Formats: sequence, structure tokens, C-alpha cells
Amino acid sequence: MGKPPFNLDGKVVLITGTGGGQGRAAAVLFAEHGAVVVGCDINAEQNNETSKLVAEAGGTMHGYAPVDLGDPEQAETWVEDAASLYGRIDVVYNNASAAKFAPFGEIDIDDWRFTMRNEVDLVFFVTRFAWKYLIKQGGVVINTASVSGHAGTHAAPQVSHSAAKGAILAMTKQLAVEGAKYGVRAVSISPGVIESPATKPFLEDPTARGVMLGDALIQRAGQPVEVAQMALFLASDAASYITGSDFLVDGGRMAT
Ligand SMILES: NC(=O)c1ccc[n+]([C@@H]2O[C@H](COP(=O)([O-])OP(=O)(O)OC[C@H]3O[C@@H](n4cnc5c(N)ncnc54)[C@H](O)[C@@H]3O)[C@@H](O)[C@H]2O)c1
Repeated sequence: MGKPPFNLDGKVVLITGTGGGQGRAAAVLFAEHGAVVVGCDINAEQNNETSKLVAEAGGTMHGYAPVDLGDPEQAETWVEDAASLYGRIDVVYNNASAAKFAPFGEIDIDDWRFTMRNEVDLVFFVTRFAWKYLIKQGGVVINTASVSGHAGTHAAPQVSHSAAKGAILAMTKQLAVEGAKYGVRAVSISPGVIESPATKPFLEDPTARGVMLGDALIQRAGQPVEVAQMALFLASDAASYITGSDFLVDGGRMAT
């Protein structure tokens, strides 16, 4: 056996949320491994920064921003632009999300709907519009779930986020079933606590950090690239026998 084929040479990979921590890490890593990356984010400044970093790493990223993927028209335009630019879509990595957190007795309806729009709808829209391209040559869908889709937590009051990530786990399994006959693989990644601008302030507070990390076997936050590395493997042909599964990248939190 030779080296595992962890390369994405010539593959057209759509990554959502390339302005953020994990999306940025994935854009750079995937481009370094030969992918043509088409990114997008609602935050133009952050997304442009990622395009620069990918170029500095010697890769190619075509970045669109601002794109609000919670709006089906904008999601469709982004997907269609990518397909007409490169003629194919091999991988869709649904990474972008935004959520509102509040205790169950206080969360209001608008916050619930915001979270569903920005954590579930956008995954459905992007995948739905990319599907006709993915089934042409048997592509890959990678969805970002969370440990929050697997278990409750004391770390934050987050019923809408937990419900949304549970939906992502279920959606992924059904996509795998419906995609199998076309050679489409669908998988999800469930990160634990990953360092990001949103989590950093809490991680710097010892009490909050202790609650967030809980009983995790590796007592630190993960880095965005540690999630991107899993996504790279799943996107590559090295994962050709894998579909319908979820992959925890959580420092062993769900093992305890
Ligand atoms: N950071 C963690 O601890 C953690 C843990 C578990 C799961 N996750 C999941 O990992 C993924 C990436 O998280 P991250 O830590 O990199 O967060 P992040 O906030 O750094 O990145 C998310 C990006 O998505 C973009 N985005 C949000 N809504 C959008 C929309 N409607 N249209 C287009 N872009 C939009 C944001 O602007 C942001 O750049 C998310 O799905 C998140 O739920 C994160």
C-alpha cells in the first residue's frame, strides 16, 4: 500500500463560513492539498482575509461575500456561480452557522427561528441547490454538527442550538441514504469545544473553561485546524468506504 490519498487534486470544494475559525482553517488546508476552494461568508472582511491567506499558502480560493446563506436566493446564486465558474462541484462542506443562546424559559421565538435559519436552513439550502451537481459524479457532503447534537450540557443554555445540531445529524444520515445510489457520500463532524473568537473569552475565564471542557479526556480546547484535518480526510478518496457516519472531534468529551 502506498501513502493514503489525502489529496484533493482538481476537486471543486464549496466551503461555507470561510470567514470564521474552522472554515478558514479548512479553506487553507484544502487548498494546500490541491482543492479549488469556493468559499463564502456573511462577513466580507473576514472572508477576504481568508482569500488572502489561501493565496499566501499558494492555493486558490474564490471567495464570495457578503452572502447570507439563510436566504435561499443568495444560497442558490452562490452555488450556481460556483458551478458555472468551475463546471462541477465535488465536495460541499457545510460549516457556517450562527446561534442565539438563552435559558429555555426565556428564549424568545425570534431567537429560536434565528438559530434554525442559520444552523439548519442554510445547510438544507446549500445542499439542495448543489445536489444536481453532486450526483453527477458522486460527490461528498460534510455537515458540521456538534457534541451539542449528542448530549445536553451545563456549559450554556442552548436549546435551539442543540435542537439544530441534532437536526444536522439526522439530515446527514438521510442524505447518505438518498445519495448512495448516486455514489454521493454524506457525513457529519461533531466538534467539541474549539477555540474561536466566540469561545475564546469563556476559555480565558477559569470557571467557564472548567464547565466547558467538563470531563473531556484532553483538557484543552481544540484548534480549528484539528477539525479541518478530519474534514480533509472525509473529503478525500481515503474515506471512500465511509458514509452516513458522524465523527466526534471533541478531545474525548463524549467518552465520559
Ligand atoms: N467553536 C466551537 O466550539 C464549536 C463547537 C461545536 C460545533 N461548532 C460548529 O463548527 C462550525 C464552525 O464554527 P466556528 O467555531 O468556526 O465559528 P465561527 O463563528 O468562527 O465561524 C462561523 C462562520 O459562519 C458565518 N456565518 C454565520 N451565519 C451565516 C450565514 N447565514 N451565511 C453565511 N455565513 C454565515 C459567520 O460569519 C462565521 O464567519 C459551526 O457550524 C459551529 O456550530 C463549533
